[in-house]
Amino acid sequence: MCGIVGGVSKRNVLPILLEGLKRLEYRGYDSAGVAFRNNKKVSLVKTQGRVADLESQLDGSLKSLQGIAHTRWATHGVPSTKNAHPQDSGNSIFVVHNGIIENHENLRKKLTKEGFKFKSDTDTEVISHLVNLYKTKGYDFDSAVMRTIAELKGAYALGIIDLDNPDLVIGAREHSPLVVGEGIEENFIASDVMALSQVTNKFKFLQDGQIALIGSDKIQIMSKNGTAKKIPTQEIDSNSFTNDLAGYSHFMEKEIFEQPKALQDALQGRVTSEGTQEGIFGAGFEDQVKDVTNIQIVACGTSFHAGRIFEFWSHKFLGVNCRVDYGSEYQYQEPIKTDKTLLVTISQSGETADTLSSLKFAKKTGKPVTLTICNVANSSMCRESDFSLLTNAGPEIGVASTKAFVTQLACLNLLLLTMMQLKKQPKKAIQNISSSLLQLPKKINKTFDMLKVYKDVAKLLFNKNSALFLGRGMYFPIAREGALKLKEISYIHAEAYPAGELKHGPLALIDKDMPVLALVPDNEHLDKIQSNIQEVAARKGRVITIGPLGKTKIGKNGGHIKIPKTLDLHNPIISVVPMQLISYYTALLKGTDVDKPRNLAKSVTVE
Ligand code: F6R
Repeated sequence: MCGIVGGVSKRNVLPILLEGLKRLEYRGYDSAGVAFRNNKKVSLVKTQGRVADLESQLDGSLKSLQGIAHTRWATHGVPSTKNAHPQDSGNSIFVVHNGIIENHENLRKKLTKEGFKFKSDTDTEVISHLVNLYKTKGYDFDSAVMRTIAELKGAYALGIIDLDNPDLVIGAREHSPLVVGEGIEENFIASDVMALSQVTNKFKFLQDGQIALIGSDKIQIMSKNGTAKKIPTQEIDSNSFTNDLAGYSHFMEKEIFEQPKALQDALQGRVTSEGTQEGIFGAGFEDQVKDVTNIQIVACGTSFHAGRIFEFWSHKFLGVNCRVDYGSEYQYQEPIKTDKTLLVTISQSGETADTLSSLKFAKKTGKPVTLTICNVANSSMCRESDFSLLTNAGPEIGVASTKAFVTQLACLNLLLLTMMQLKKQPKKAIQNISSSLLQLPKKINKTFDMLKVYKDVAKLLFNKNSALFLGRGMYFPIAREGALKLKEISYIHAEAYPAGELKHGPLALIDKDMPVLALVPDNEHLDKIQSNIQEVAARKGRVITIGPLGKTKIGKNGGHIKIPKTLDLHNPIISVVPMQLISYYTALLKGTDVDKPRNLAKSVTVE
């Protein structure tokens, strides 16, 4: 999704801004731009394309001490140069914006009456004109920004510069993240710590409603009404923010192979073969959740699938009712109100607007204990929740989520174990699950022995228009995750069904051109799913099965992939890895942009 980087310095900021944009590329974007002080004027360069195109349009000898830059993921107005940010007003006010201004149409009408001419179809352009309007009415730059913000409805992270203020960048945030990076004789703003990790490891995380005035020698934080605010500076280990491919062809590939290590990091110091350590979710967590009667999970996409697996675990091992809602849907359901609800938000980024607004909604409409399972420390969701557990997967750059998913499941398993301990469940059961969990990194490593097999399956898939994924019970969310991976990076239409639903409709789709991937567990569902597979085979469907039984064998009409056997509750975590790799190799055969699939963004910060 959109990315912001801006700054003022006593040295040339242009290379810093461009490097920042490159580090934000992973979020997904369709156009890019930069506004920078160029002697007595501010120059604006924009492109509908990649940051490299933008860079090639800039004279390498240019030097600038102030600037703002942006990668745009279109919401209002098609991807084009005119709609790319920065948006300017009268060549004097320049704005970069992440988010959506909901009342932009009314503001556009008002500004048109005031004589402003709009050059773009964006909602953002109202912001530059409003600031300009208030400046022409005699307000200082910062007061003009504050008056503007008072009129905006919606979500925004903003970076703004003014022709008359060469040593000032103004940042503001409301429901969209923005950080301030502190340097020596230079200061910056960015939508993501990663954008600035090449210049600083000191950050201030703005809260909703805060405004930052950034000069090369000053950082001033204010609330919307102008009251000065103090926010602490946090040191972040910038070494962990690397965007180095380390010899892999794609970040998705690298991140799939990092999963054993990511899992180890997620479990390290938190669980032994006897169970989980106290306090891993934060001090006092155990006390707060020991008598919860209801668990509500809210998440989107891949993170939602992780939640759906926990739902099965909760019912089976805790006997606690658990419901899972999409972040984009939660607010439309009348939330079930019980005395003691644990609300769990799951998110790689911790910034997904739908999940974040659900968390805020839940807090406003009830009194849940809130826990976020998230990969990004200091993210909005972590800060909004009573408790949090970091997945410790390391930065996930590929748009398709892989290592975040398996580490989310590991963390959810830690939640399960903690609650089993609180419920004084038999020690033996806790020890079995804990020991098996600790074995997972090794077992996932074993799935990498079969790369040739996954490549063979990819050859069966890449020239097909559709594929069907089947699973039963807690393997159904994994089937859904497999289908999501395939569709998002290879653009093959893929649908997942609970295997038993096949005969209620989707069986009509089966023919030799509809490959079916079925998850075959070693549990009480085995016979039933085998019958479902027969139903497909009898109609000339090509079936590829994945499971811990049998032998691996792939032919031109399908076959079987044997995965390492583990406890039934952990097999879904292992079985997702072959699916990730099959999708990856299919996308390679199709020649799609694996790390930046069309139309998608990494961090979805609009509802
Ligand atoms: C799919 C994918 C998305 C995200 C979803 C939620 O591969 O990455 O479906 O899972 O956008 O994002 P987070 O987890 O950051 O809240």
